[in-house]
Amino acid sequence: MRSTLGWQADRAGTTLRRTSLERRELRADDVAVRVDYCGVCHTDLHAVRTRTGEAPLVPGHEFTGVVTDIGHEVTRFAIGDQVAVGNIVDSCGACAMCRAGQENFCHEFPTLTYAGTDRYDGTTTLGAYSREYIVRDDFTYPLPAGLDPAAAAPLLCAGVTVWEPLQALGVGPGTRVAVAGLGGLGHLAVKLAVALGADTTVISRSADKADDARRLGGHDLIVSTDQRQMAAARDRFDVVVDTIAVPHDVTPYLGLVALDGTLSHLGHLGTVTVQATDLLIGRKKLSSAGSGGRPATAAMLEFCAQHNVTADIELLPSARVNEALDRLERNDVRYRFVLDMSDLPQNR
Ligand SMILES: NC(=O)c1ccc[n+]([C@@H]2O[C@H](COP(=O)([O-])OP(=O)(O)OC[C@H]3O[C@@H](n4cnc5c(N)ncnc54)[C@H](OP(=O)(O)O)[C@@H]3O)[C@@H](O)[C@H]2O)c1
Ligand SMILES: [Zn+2]
Ligand SMILES: [Zn+2]
Repeated sequence: MRSTLGWQADRAGTTLRRTSLERRELRADDVAVRVDYCGVCHTDLHAVRTRTGEAPLVPGHEFTGVVTDIGHEVTRFAIGDQVAVGNIVDSCGACAMCRAGQENFCHEFPTLTYAGTDRYDGTTTLGAYSREYIVRDDFTYPLPAGLDPAAAAPLLCAGVTVWEPLQALGVGPGTRVAVAGLGGLGHLAVKLAVALGADTTVISRSADKADDARRLGGHDLIVSTDQRQMAAARDRFDVVVDTIAVPHDVTPYLGLVALDGTLSHLGHLGTVTVQATDLLIGRKKLSSAGSGGRPATAAMLEFCAQHNVTADIELLPSARVNEALDRLERNDVRYRFVLDMSDLPQNR
């Protein structure tokens, strides 16, 4: 085994502490990545706060870094390459979803970057709040030149999670898109929808995000708690992307969807209650998505390089990870924390 350092949830599941971690020796198709930057996703916060059981928890599933070693069958990468890795690190490769390039929906469930189960040795995967990650070459992406590696890290979860549905729903010039919840996913959904040519509006509880909404390229901000503004926007959007991080009633957001339009529910993943008539009136659709397949992830990175799309980040030394999680919990982030892992020594 190889040894590295990382940030692991303690037994109480509320704070992370610095600890030594074991990584597997490289398999033939593995790449060793020195993790330089890892985004702090709200999913990490959910995982830390709701942690149960004894399985170790090291969060972190959107990261960039540099290849430091390769297995003997790896041909796509060389030592020194800048790479990016997201929230899935393996899949069966044989089912209909995998064959369609939707490894994120693998019938055997994709291996998650953390708190997943390795397909070969059955161990629990440990995430990228650490200095090194070992990953299959097929789930490693070249980081396109020109993308800042720190600001690009959040593209690998937040970015691709909103990119796939925007693509699947045909968002492009003329599409009227609304993004509910201006956080990590939301601000990238706005930037990507704007770059795709869509007429893009933000829906937020926070009226003070209006300037940011415009700076991000949005045309308008609707305050979700203002009934008048919500009523005035009835049936206005072809696509509503819901990235709200807590359980909530989707009815007001369905009300904003236009005839034959879609509410893409990507945020808090739990039970959603919908009155059929709220879909019936206007032939509206409710859908969801998560993460991205390999082709979509690679295409998203290329698109972001061409259109200069990265996250708005606040970069913190990894030692301040608990502060980042606390502030994320208080909605005090504009718009993504990224941990700088260089405070963890690389060779031990
Ligand atoms: N589908 C997937 O595969 C996938 C992937 C990644 C993350 N997620 C989930 O997506 C959600 C968003 O993640 P994120 O990293 O973007 O989180 P985030 O940065 O915390 O943003 C979430 C946004 O939700 C809104 N919000 C928060 N608390 C709220 C409340 N009590 N009522 C109404 N709105 C509230 C806020 O927007 P305003 O201040 O603008 O109102 C906030 O900025 C999380 O639940 C995360 O687990 C899903
Ligand atoms: Zn995530
Ligand atoms: Zn599969």
